[in-house]
Amino acid sequence: MAKTKTHYVCQECGSTQPKWMGQCPDCREWNTLVETLVNSGKTGATSPAARQALVARNTPQVLTEIDADSYQRTLLPMDEFNRVLGGGVVPGSLVLIGGDPGIGKSTLLLQMSVSLATEGKALYISGEESAQQIKLRANRLGISSDRLFILTETNMTAILEHIQQMSPDFLIVDSIQTVYLEELQSAAGSVSQVRGCAARFQEIAKRDNIPIFLIGHVTKTGVIAGPRVLEHIVDTVLYLEGERFHAYRLLRSVKNRFGATNEVGIFEMSDIGLSEVANPSEVFLAERLPNASGSSIAVTVEGTRPLLVEIQALASTTSFGNPRRTANGVDMNRLLLIVAVLTRRVGIRMGDQDIFVNVIGGLQISEPASDLAVATAIASSFRNRPVSADIALVGEVGLSGELRAVGHLETRLKEVAKLGFKRCVVPASSQLKQIKTPPLELVKTRSLNEALEAALIH
Ligand SMILES: Nc1ncnc2c1ncn2[C@@H]1O[C@H](COP(=O)(O)OP(=O)(O)OP(=O)(O)O)[C@@H](O)[C@H]1O
Ligand SMILES: [Mg+2]
Ligand SMILES: [Zn+2]
Repeated sequence: MAKTKTHYVCQECGSTQPKWMGQCPDCREWNTLVETLVNSGKTGATSPAARQALVARNTPQVLTEIDADSYQRTLLPMDEFNRVLGGGVVPGSLVLIGGDPGIGKSTLLLQMSVSLATEGKALYISGEESAQQIKLRANRLGISSDRLFILTETNMTAILEHIQQMSPDFLIVDSIQTVYLEELQSAAGSVSQVRGCAARFQEIAKRDNIPIFLIGHVTKTGVIAGPRVLEHIVDTVLYLEGERFHAYRLLRSVKNRFGATNEVGIFEMSDIGLSEVANPSEVFLAERLPNASGSSIAVTVEGTRPLLVEIQALASTTSFGNPRRTANGVDMNRLLLIVAVLTRRVGIRMGDQDIFVNVIGGLQISEPASDLAVATAIASSFRNRPVSADIALVGEVGLSGELRAVGHLETRLKEVAKLGFKRCVVPASSQLKQIKTPPLELVKTRSLNEALEAALIH
């Protein structure tokens, strides 16, 4: 077989070079050249018969006549996983699951593969572990299936051949960074390999109408390509997140062509693998000490799901040097802003205070709607006055110390009521339709000052 030709294309300016270079000679950017297959030069079908054959492959359909129910999602036993996928596994979809090393990607996918195997033949391709290692993991997790096939292979040509012969109903690839196309000279895991292989899997997913799951390692930009370079190729991107020393794992959708993004599934990691946490708010609040100062309840919305989380803060006098600000689970800039507002608008002087903020459960909160709970926790710790145990807090804090309305308020309030809280502090400007949560008293406040007055015990 003739060696396929490749050249190097700059990802910044699009210029092509015959050889790899560290710097693009045209736009002077560094590390932007990526090996790419040279187009064979043929301009496609030219004879009328060939063109007819091309057209016959597909026909434009009138929108009104397209059958949208034509795909049947496969439901997995773990609802948390279905939720992140937008309601189950979609046939013909290419799903990328990224995550830090050792976070539990292989574990999750092996569990999913066994579940999927109850619906059809599943093929788990591993380039990272031997079949024995995978078997050992399955034994440890206590799962097995006679319709789950393990293939340890990294050569794409061989993989495609196996898929052709076996025609699996589900395909799992662990990981996209270990498979390679022979046509490309770059090492497995390089941008060109990762993209080239993912494009092949996308073709198979669409051609055979089977779901394909790709595992990807999250890596810094550089020689090894992380899942980021694949995000536009695949249909769905999920990230498995969590801290290694916490048992909780969040599976978050950052892109989904078949469902809401930012949806989270919550799992707990143990020696028998990942199990779903169906009532996360309860779990996150389980260890709360009701009358301790420096603790408040935030109501955040992740995707479509409301979550109650405990925010803890500790203000303590700086022993030497500059006061420290430590944010765990909340954005540092957000924390600095809140501290500045507390200082200037509420009159809490914290120039000589170290401030630590922690979100319980290892959750990362990015929403401004939890500002008020963070501010309240800090003020509570500083003043050594606990927050009423029956109150939750919702609201964005503005620079003037005003409280700003937030989205999804009704979803949040329902969750607050469901978990047995009696009151919820909300911004006075909130647009509220009739909410049918009678047990919940809404405390409408215009400013951070008013909110603290309502929430802190005297
Ligand atoms: N023998 C064991 N008993 C209990 N837990 C284990 C055991 N072996 C591994 N684990 C857990 O499984 C986790 C590793 O899971 P897994 O191999 O699925 O991660 P991964 O994301 O695929 O990692 P990698 O990036 O190395 O592929 C470990 O962090 C550990 O918590
Ligand atoms: Mg793994
Ligand atoms: Zn360039």
